[in-house]
Amino acid sequence: MEEIYKRIELGLRNHVIGKQIYHYKKLKSTQLLAISLAENNIKNEEGTVILADQQDEGRGRGKKKWSSPIGGLWMSLIIKPRIEFTKFNMISVISAISVCESINRISKLKTSIRWPNDVLFNNKKLAGILIDSSINNSNHDYVVIGIGINIDIDISKINLSNASNSILSRKVTSIQNEIKGRAIDRFMLMKQILEKIELYLSLLEYDKYNSIIIGIYKQLFDTLGKKIIVYQDGFKKYNATVKDIDNYGGLILERDDNSLEKIYSGQISIRENN
Ligand code: BTN
Repeated sequence: MEEIYKRIELGLRNHVIGKQIYHYKKLKSTQLLAISLAENNIKNEEGTVILADQQDEGRGRGKKKWSSPIGGLWMSLIIKPRIEFTKFNMISVISAISVCESINRISKLKTSIRWPNDVLFNNKKLAGILIDSSINNSNHDYVVIGIGINIDIDISKINLSNASNSILSRKVTSIQNEIKGRAIDRFMLMKQILEKIELYLSLLEYDKYNSIIIGIYKQLFDTLGKKIIVYQDGFKKYNATVKDIDNYGGLILERDDNSLEKIYSGQISIRENN
């Protein structure tokens, strides 16, 4: 493994996230490596970023595969958040905001967030986020944020049959597929995301910023008011309408039988008849 060079190091204004960046040409999964570093806790891994040009066994949410050919941004970062347990879901929220805002800034596309943390353009998935954590109030606690962005990828190279890139909606895209021609600097995008995550994470330590962060999330959110299907373990559970987002990023739903539900994780798809 090779510690990444000046391009990122020189420009990155962070104190913690990205203080070590390991860049591989090929890995099974950046997420698996980051988890094992965090688990073993050999040295202070907080802020370490693992980046790979391609992954053989990229992982998506819900135990799906994540197709990761050359041309994407595939990275995982290890954090040790100093926040109360009740706020842990906010890590998913700030990751989604950071990825969405950074893509919009660098590509000039207007992407949006589909709950909980997919980034979409025109209803097609452009980026996904996977959060793994071990939280038990010891100093081994960690959260690994895995981020996958289809940048310069020919969509036909994404394996649609089993990849989470295609889950439920079956529609995927890449930045290059949408902007045609203009080059996207993968490292600039990475730098933006790492800086935003560090900033938002520091804000999470203060309660007063919580509602501001949820406000930003709602503005980027494409799912408010939509009729959806809620899935559990890949199977349809019930139909509902999205009423609101709570203070911690939970989805407030009204089921078709009028009962109310709140969910913090799971999978949803938008119903056709919206
Ligand atoms: C999703 O299902 O939407 C989440 C996809 C997350 C993919 C990223 S790519 C970098 C990191 N390493 C992995 O194996 N998965 C995550």
